[in-house]
Amino acid sequence: MLIRRPPDLAASEITPRHVFERRRALIKAAGALALTAGLPATSRAGEAFSGLQQSPLSTTEAPNSLRDISGYNNFVEFGFGGKPQPAERAGAMKTRPWTVHVEGLVNRPRAFAIEDILRLAPLEERIYRFRCVEGWSMVIPWVGFPLGVLLRQVEPQGSAKYVEFVSLADPETMPGVRQPFLDWPYTEGLRLDEALHPLTLLAVGLYGEALPNQNGAPLRLVVPWKYGFKGGKSIVRIRLTERQPRTTWNLAQPEEYGFYANVNPAVSHPRWSQEKERRIGEFRKRATLPFNGYAGQVAQLYAGMDLRKFF
Ligand code: MTE
Repeated sequence: MLIRRPPDLAASEITPRHVFERRRALIKAAGALALTAGLPATSRAGEAFSGLQQSPLSTTEAPNSLRDISGYNNFVEFGFGGKPQPAERAGAMKTRPWTVHVEGLVNRPRAFAIEDILRLAPLEERIYRFRCVEGWSMVIPWVGFPLGVLLRQVEPQGSAKYVEFVSLADPETMPGVRQPFLDWPYTEGLRLDEALHPLTLLAVGLYGEALPNQNGAPLRLVVPWKYGFKGGKSIVRIRLTERQPRTTWNLAQPEEYGFYANVNPAVSHPRWSQEKERRIGEFRKRATLPFNGYAGQVAQLYAGMDLRKFF
């Protein structure tokens, strides 16, 4: 994530709104067909989810194209060789069967099969701004449901203050994991109140279809007011803890990547400013917004905290 500058990009276009709307109409039609055929919502790459509603928490900004979103990725388990590499390599990851252990300071620890997770709540489309710590951004139409739905299933205990997210680390299919650059598995964490915030999403798809592997299939975290590295991909374990979890990038470079990682144009990364960002597909840089534009919904979570210290 930190090692290389984004390579020069082909000028890839943003999906025009009308194309996107048409695509959604098609997805809805496909969903209706699936319903009439009595099929459950699916989650294999390339398969459409049925009956998706768009969440009112969505931005009205135009989403990036599927090509951008699934072709310009960070997923270091598949190597450190640049943005196209995850799409080239992640096909090797097996996303079935898939189990997610939800455990720690909870009354009802449980191993969920991905099929059961998909049935916990109605899936919805959430179009979120996405800001990478490296200075680029996108708008992504995720499919998912609030993380709080899953956490409430296991009944967090009063002593639980944080949530740790552990990604798959399979040396067989993930060449990056065979290299000692990071402390595997990739681990991220949130404070419990952040995890329970209605904006915090467990994503299972994008553009109405199951997540491409390179975007973190079959299940990844999306926290739209934080830098993208907080969103662990291909999650296999969620643990509620009393202590702040150790997180991969914070362990690797504590002076560069804090635990909170709230998008903050006023706090520079030690090696570059965070005041501006380049929306993938656009030429001119735009101003980065505090909390990535979600300050109205989340700033109160940090009332009284020095955000320079807790960066
Ligand atoms: N999760 C895992 N397991 N491994 C990773 O390398 N990269 C993070 C985050 N989650 C990463 C990860 C970073 S740095 C970013 S910016 C986003 O995933 C990128 O998500 P995207 O490729 O879907 O845009």
